[in-house]
Amino acid sequence: MSKKLFIKTWGCQMNVYDSKKMADILSPLGYDAVDAPDNADLMILNTCHIREKATEKVFSDLGRLREHKEAKAEKGEKALIAVAGCVAQAEGDVILQRAKYVDMVFGPQTYHLLPEMVMKASGDRRVVNTDFPVESKFDHLPEESTAPGPSAFLSIQEGCDKFCTFCVVPYTRGAEFSRPPEQILNEAKRLVDHGAKEITLLGQNVNAYHGKDVTGATWGLARLIAGIDRIDGLERIRYMTSHPGDMSDDLIDVHRDIAKLMPFLHLPVQSGSDRILELMNRKHTAADYLSIIIKMKEARPDIAFSSDFIVGFPGETDADHQATLDLAHRVNFSSCYSFKYSPRPGTPGAVMGGIVPEQVKDARLQELQSILFEQQRSYNQRSVGRVMPVLFDRKGQKPGQLLGKTPYMQSVYVDAPERLFGQIVDVRIDKASQNGTAGTIVTTEEVLSSPSHETHYRQIGSKNVDKTAC
Ligand code: 5AD
Ligand code: SF4
Repeated sequence: MSKKLFIKTWGCQMNVYDSKKMADILSPLGYDAVDAPDNADLMILNTCHIREKATEKVFSDLGRLREHKEAKAEKGEKALIAVAGCVAQAEGDVILQRAKYVDMVFGPQTYHLLPEMVMKASGDRRVVNTDFPVESKFDHLPEESTAPGPSAFLSIQEGCDKFCTFCVVPYTRGAEFSRPPEQILNEAKRLVDHGAKEITLLGQNVNAYHGKDVTGATWGLARLIAGIDRIDGLERIRYMTSHPGDMSDDLIDVHRDIAKLMPFLHLPVQSGSDRILELMNRKHTAADYLSIIIKMKEARPDIAFSSDFIVGFPGETDADHQATLDLAHRVNFSSCYSFKYSPRPGTPGAVMGGIVPEQVKDARLQELQSILFEQQRSYNQRSVGRVMPVLFDRKGQKPGQLLGKTPYMQSVYVDAPERLFGQIVDVRIDKASQNGTAGTIVTTEEVLSSPSHETHYRQIGSKNVDKTAC
């Protein structure tokens, strides 16, 4: 008999990928994924620990799941509650102590053991598994049981050896590990066979990828991208998240040579002050970062940049903050994430002196965001009138509307028939706001006569135009 599986996912795309894999692993056991916890037989919270209040959020959600568990118990049925992901890894004991109704707690490296864990928990034994097993979970994953959708994620690397002093990832995800290239190429082919047009290669430190093939040769990310480029039917490749220290020249070159590699780079800088970058143990300077930006523009002049920033790291002065604002001005980003520093227990940053008061952090964040938001708004505004190939990868909120992505990662709302879902179609951008754009599907004739259309994209985009839709 089929059972209901509810998974709620917080955090990064790696967690989204992990949740999908958990569903794939549980599918042979009869679990079907559902969108709400009502009447679910297994409820998993896949958590993120990167910034503050993670644990409180988990407890408040657990309270709600408990009600569902109790409602099921009143009918004489059993429901299991599990906490997975980085909060489970970091605070598993606290969760088990505080929430006696939680049946399973397991870290990100153990979800391939889910069938065993579920069996054990079904037999009324609480399960806790926050090990870093010697075997790789990737060697034990079943083939995908659900369609990936037009835009798929593929985890190629996990963990991190960089130890930035603000970050929990090296502790929760463990040491850097790269999957073998053959395993990745096979998974990529399967995703394309099942309809994916775009693949985003994922890793906490994705450009540090160094997978060994069967001959013992080590592949870097550039070579892996070149291998994936050869998969027929795949139209777009992306990767995230990168560290400036691993932005090798061969990786920069593939941005020039491989048309399927999208002209967008998410490259966190965190701060524009060399003093703070040093305290953060980032192992790069602001000048190093800017020189990567220049090289990337030489390789792919139309590339769009995005980044992550942290304001208010311990010891950050007004002058350090000003250096961050200056860097933002110099790069001119298309979109960014920016955060107030939040001390993470167990990281070196959490015990550093020079704590920045909360109201100073607030003011600095506001000042930085006013620059970044304006850059994003004006980036989108500059797209108005241009024709770009858009991959329709989501349904819009209104009927008759699809949501897609430009090569530059901008969201586009378009009135379009549902059968264009999963297609790449030329769209003229009509309107823009800070968060995205809206556009209209254009005919091939319009594309060819459009002065704003880029030749490069005429080849990639227009071959997929469904002319009957125009
Ligand atoms: N405080 C604030 N932001 C953080 N990030 C990571 N750790 C912290 C922290 N302790 C941000 C970084 C990183 C992004 C994923 O989250 O900017 O790049
Ligand atoms: Fe965390 Fe990224 Fe630094 Fe690794 S490189 S420690 S994942 S911020």
